[in-house]
Amino acid sequence: MLLLIAGHETTANMIALGALALLENPDQLALLRDMDDEKLVVSAMEELLRYLHIITHNGRRRVALEDIGIAGELIRAGEGLIMANDIGNRDPDAFPDPDRLDIRRDARHHVAFGFGVHQCLGRPLARLELQIVYSTLYRRIPTLRLATDLEQIPFKHDGSVYGDYELPVTW
Ligand code: HEM
Repeated sequence: MLLLIAGHETTANMIALGALALLENPDQLALLRDMDDEKLVVSAMEELLRYLHIITHNGRRRVALEDIGIAGELIRAGEGLIMANDIGNRDPDAFPDPDRLDIRRDARHHVAFGFGVHQCLGRPLARLELQIVYSTLYRRIPTLRLATDLEQIPFKHDGSVYGDYELPVTW
């Protein structure tokens, strides 16, 4: 069950949200579509994972195994922590100008797949699927565009995985 849900809900939402983010950033979309460059597809995929961060709503829960200091705070062994990875992915010290989608930046150190022993088990498969989609969709359908206003798109504010309930497009 975990593999089915974690493996479907996540990539399905990343595909729809990533397609939307590119349509909303036509300069980035043009770069990706027109430059036949495999490296750019990879960096675009990592940047979209960072920028969209679909696992937003429940945080990563951990227990400190030993005393650690983070940003001047002492966390004692045994205390619980909730990691807001989505905020980490918008940390300007790690990603300059973090609210900008820049498919040429090196975003490989994002934490969209978590970190440590429980880091996403399916990330090689997810990366493969996303690379295929982002490199194929706009070449197959170069005139793809939204069939509604952005404000009309129903986003998933109520699930553990972020995304959109529907994405009407036309071409
Ligand atoms: C874009 C797609 C995906 C994203 C953003 C994503 C993200 C995540 C995140 C944030 C975690 C928690 C990591 C942590 O606690 O440190 C996780 C765990 C997990 N993911 Fe994914 N995931 C994706 C796709 C997949 C796929 C395709 C599969 C399986 C086919 C999968 C299977 C799992 C499993 C089994 C875990 C639990 C690992 C554990 O607790 O040891 N995920 N994923």
